[in-house]
Amino acid sequence: MSSTTRGFKNVSDPDSLQEVLATKLEEVARLNKDPEVAEKLKGCIDFVDGLESFLKDSASEATPVQRKILTDTYKEPWTEYYETGKTTAKFRPSMATGYHEGQFLRIASQITKAKRILEIGTFTGHSAVALALSAYCEELVCLEYEPFLVDFVKSRIDGTPVENKIKFMIGVAMESLQKLKEEGRVFDLVFIDADKGNYINYYNFIMDNGLLEKSGTLMIDNTLWKGQVYSTSDNISPNGKVLKEFNEHVRQDPRVNQVVLPVHDGVSLIHRVEESD
Ligand SMILES: C[S@@+](CC[C@H](N)C(=O)[O-])C[C@H]1O[C@@H](n2cnc3c(N)ncnc32)[C@H](O)[C@@H]1O
Repeated sequence: MSSTTRGFKNVSDPDSLQEVLATKLEEVARLNKDPEVAEKLKGCIDFVDGLESFLKDSASEATPVQRKILTDTYKEPWTEYYETGKTTAKFRPSMATGYHEGQFLRIASQITKAKRILEIGTFTGHSAVALALSAYCEELVCLEYEPFLVDFVKSRIDGTPVENKIKFMIGVAMESLQKLKEEGRVFDLVFIDADKGNYINYYNFIMDNGLLEKSGTLMIDNTLWKGQVYSTSDNISPNGKVLKEFNEHVRQDPRVNQVVLPVHDGVSLIHRVEESD
């Protein structure tokens, strides 16, 4: 699969379900010696490659600020930043939401008419900008603990229509959530995309402390975790396990309705129900 058809995605770092499946099929194709099987495998790879490209290409055009952020994200020397201490973790460009998911977030923000939005985990700001572009969004609070990344986002949104809507709280997300609770803040829409091991803690804190408006919406990234959340294999990563538990935890919570959508690596759409719903 060429890097062109995968857009900005790095072929050595499969992230979406299509990329994961294509990588598995390519492994089988390399091992295969039978020409007839090779032909069929090529058809499967073309099918899944075509889907990945189609999803990206069929999304409406991204705005200049979104394109700038993604282009720069894929150019930055993240390994060098980590090795020289500019960042505390070794970031990968694939951590950013791509065009397809970005467009999904943008439309979700618009159709929920969310005025106050909270994002946990901002990286280079692609999802933050997508959410803040909605005409209804008045304020988007980003929780991010890497100052270098906050500066990266600020310098890219400077002078754009979202500049004055996006606010940052630099620090450990759980501590920032505690501050937001003390300030009595309530949000219409929350997007969670930070450390997976804390997803349940973030979710519980938000739901138990009134940070989500009645009838508000939560969106959670990576809830399919490369297909591991439904895998029957014993070989599941720690993130695969916690996301499996997270999905089940939400499914059993009577305060919400949940659907897991196969957008990129899985996005859960969770609606807080009113007693009358
Ligand atoms: C997957 S990236 C977010 C990607 C971003 N939403 C986007 O679409 O481009 C996760 C981000 O969460 C941040 N993060 C991870 N754990 C955190 C924590 N405990 N508190 C605050 N930020 C955290 C990381 O620094 C990273 O920037």
